[in-house]
Amino acid sequence: MTISMIAAATENNVIGKDGDMPWHIPKDLKYFMRTTLGHSIIMGRKTFESFDVIKPLANRTNIVISRQANLQYPGAFVVASLAAALDIARANQELEAFIIGGQQIYQMGMNIADKIYLTRIHTELVGDTFFPNIDPTIWQLTSANPITNDPRSKYDYTFNVWERKGKD
Ligand SMILES: NC(=O)c1ccc[n+]([C@@H]2O[C@H](COP(=O)([O-])OP(=O)(O)OC[C@H]3O[C@@H](n4cnc5c(N)ncnc54)[C@H](OP(=O)(O)O)[C@@H]3O)[C@@H](O)[C@H]2O)c1
Repeated sequence: MTISMIAAATENNVIGKDGDMPWHIPKDLKYFMRTTLGHSIIMGRKTFESFDVIKPLANRTNIVISRQANLQYPGAFVVASLAAALDIARANQELEAFIIGGQQIYQMGMNIADKIYLTRIHTELVGDTFFPNIDPTIWQLTSANPITNDPRSKYDYTFNVWERKGKD
């Protein structure tokens, strides 16, 4: 099973502010939806609660990580660790599991992920949650698709894909 992370971050690595994302880029949301469709998505409890409507994203296996013993969300798995989340994905015969944030879960995921889908938003913003640095001695940029002059986005951005070096 490939372990992937998917995120959008500014040049200064901001991913969130006050429990939300401080930008609106519909095309990036579509990219996220398309990329993760049909797969397992693994997230921290705060990211799950950041959804506009707090319910599982459709047509995906939603796995929420929390330390709260009795937490339940209809239609989602709730587990106590990233390892337990990955076990559920493997048990479901998943081929590619996606860690979808936020900061706390990306930090753990950085050590074990094979692949990172990172939308780099070409601006610097103030935020309170961050994506970890991508060390170019460990990660290789395998794809970069720049989007400029998107009329529905205030900022230019690039769909980057990074893969861990030395995997094959
Ligand atoms: N730009 C992007 O691509 C993107 C993607 C996702 C999220 N975000 C943003 O990121 C922000 C949220 O990130 P965050 O770092 O504050 O929260 P988070 O990582 O989504 O969730 C944190 C929660 O996960 C649980 N948790 C964390 N580590 C754990 C561990 N080792 N074992 C068990 N449970 C653990 C805890 O839940 P309990 O408190 O219930 O124990 C913790 O409070 C929001 O602003 C959101 O909009 C941005």
